[in-house]
Amino acid sequence: MTRVELARHSRELHEAAAEAAHCTRCSLYRDATQVVFGEGPVGAPLMLVGEQPGDKEDLAGKPFVGPAGRVLDAALAEAGLDRASTYVTNAVKHFKHEQRGKFRLHKQPTRGEVQACRWWLEQELTLVQPKLVVALGVTAARALLEKPVVLSRLRGQVLEFEGYRAIVTLHPSAILRMRDEAEKDAAFRGLCEDLRFAAKIAG
Ligand code: URA
Repeated sequence: MTRVELARHSRELHEAAAEAAHCTRCSLYRDATQVVFGEGPVGAPLMLVGEQPGDKEDLAGKPFVGPAGRVLDAALAEAGLDRASTYVTNAVKHFKHEQRGKFRLHKQPTRGEVQACRWWLEQELTLVQPKLVVALGVTAARALLEKPVVLSRLRGQVLEFEGYRAIVTLHPSAILRMRDEAEKDAAFRGLCEDLRFAAKIAG
């Protein structure tokens, strides 16, 4: 990207984020605190795509700042990647949840909600122009590839969609949910390995 394009794309990304703050493309905006748009520089070689903001992200207005974000940050550091140089976003930009007492429990977005939010993901892709997209978990992979996905079958492959290259890996929250320490450890090492692979491809 030339410097002029970089400046234009950065401005347009900023405008898209401002517009997304008023998004009513699906009904999730009704119960969420705010939209959580992606974060990171235009021209970032890597774009990381999660599922949707969690409780902490909904309150902070920033992606991956809660427990899953801490796992992601640790894995990025292990893989020698600087988070500030990557673009981090989610397939769905509002927190979907149900209230249980004083807790807000994560609820999986429907296909329709993912589809409605793809509008924003497409704008982020067009403006950031990443060399490689990393889908963190099944929801992100389905949102990007627009087909049913079995993560274990696609892991380790470089996939193509709409002129972009992508890999799929585990969602950091899946690691947090594991009870067995050895399993957790192996899953974390797998995530680091996938991120190392991503860094190599994105150059
Ligand atoms: N899980 C996600 O998928 N995204 C976030 O931003 C936080 C948790």
